[in-house]
Amino acid sequence: MTIDVAKARAETPGTAEVTHFNNAGAALMPSPVIAAQLDHIKLEARIGGYEAAAQEAARIAGVYDSIARLIGCSPEEVAILENATVAWDMAFYALPFAAGDRILTAEVEYGANFVAYLQVAKRTGAKVEVIPSAPSGETSPEALEDMIDERVKLISITHVPTNGGLVNPAAEIGRIAKRHGITYLLDACQSVGQMPIDVTEMGCDILSATSRKYLRGPRGCGFLYVRKGLLETLEPPMIDHDAALWVAPDRYELRGDARRFETWENNYAARLGLGAAIDYALAWGLPAIETRVTDLATTLRRGLADLPGISPRDIGRRKCGIVTFTLDGVDPFEAKQALNDQAINVSVSRPSSTLLDATARALPPVIRASVHYYNTEDEIRCLLDALARLRRG
Ligand SMILES: Cc1ncc(COP(=O)(O)O)c(C=O)c1O
Repeated sequence: MTIDVAKARAETPGTAEVTHFNNAGAALMPSPVIAAQLDHIKLEARIGGYEAAAQEAARIAGVYDSIARLIGCSPEEVAILENATVAWDMAFYALPFAAGDRILTAEVEYGANFVAYLQVAKRTGAKVEVIPSAPSGETSPEALEDMIDERVKLISITHVPTNGGLVNPAAEIGRIAKRHGITYLLDACQSVGQMPIDVTEMGCDILSATSRKYLRGPRGCGFLYVRKGLLETLEPPMIDHDAALWVAPDRYELRGDARRFETWENNYAARLGLGAAIDYALAWGLPAIETRVTDLATTLRRGLADLPGISPRDIGRRKCGIVTFTLDGVDPFEAKQALNDQAINVSVSRPSSTLLDATARALPPVIRASVHYYNTEDEIRCLLDALARLRRG
């Protein structure tokens, strides 16, 4: 299937208002996602919040099935949380570490994850080590293989970083982790929704993702996958009486499924929005989405290469829909604002969100234009023209 761009835009009200290249921040929601949330909020207003959840119980439960279909797991391996960070944290902080254990991560690792490694290292004496990148930018599977010994307890990488189009070789890394029996945590926050992701193919034991980015779901929602077999062994870092049944005054029993990582109270409108977003993405097909996103990003990268005074900041053999660059002599925050004044949305990625990579490459804050399948070639031309005007001052 190819993407019917006119249909996609007709179903995306925001496209009439803005030229949206901040899809790696939060993509524009399509009508079914908006409707799923509004309908539920209206139902809550009419009959009561608990009563609305009870009435819609089957649809709410169906969100786990949608996530399972999206990433190729079983619904029992899925927890829905308020964002990708909480999802990632709930699994990471459940992993046992001792002094001398090694945590291996990527040079492009996301700041939220890295500070958590540092905190766990401070608490336990575990060591955080960075897998060198290949000259082309991606985490090197060969370098990883060379680092493995019996003290490596976790391989934890970001699939697509926040600061560029790089796609890490997640499946190759998964094969190495599996061969050595090492737990593998994949931060798929920036990749889920823009390319097919299958947890078996990736070989990951744990995966985290968010709703609002390439999935086009609502803000304030994310999810966690933990492989059956591992999940039963993990004690969540915090629990409530829904994650664990209080069975005796001095005893609780954790749930057997991944919902042991959740707490009871939830935003059901957001969950239904996430479910609608996943079903919508699956209806287009992730391979078709990836093809369109990659083609548009290639068009944008070519257009940027033709503009004087633009430095591309993307690295990687395989690149996705996130395009980063700087404009010589133009402050990126001012550029973002100037574009925003023309209803063109981009974002700025700060060095502190990917500190190791930014330091290694001496990166300043970079402008991030992230395309989605509903963007058009005309919109890309419009962005390139606006950038050329900015450069001319
Ligand atoms: C690579 C990566 N991981 C994790 C996150 C955190 O996602 P959330 O804001 O949903 O917690 C982000 C957000 O930008 C990200 O870029």
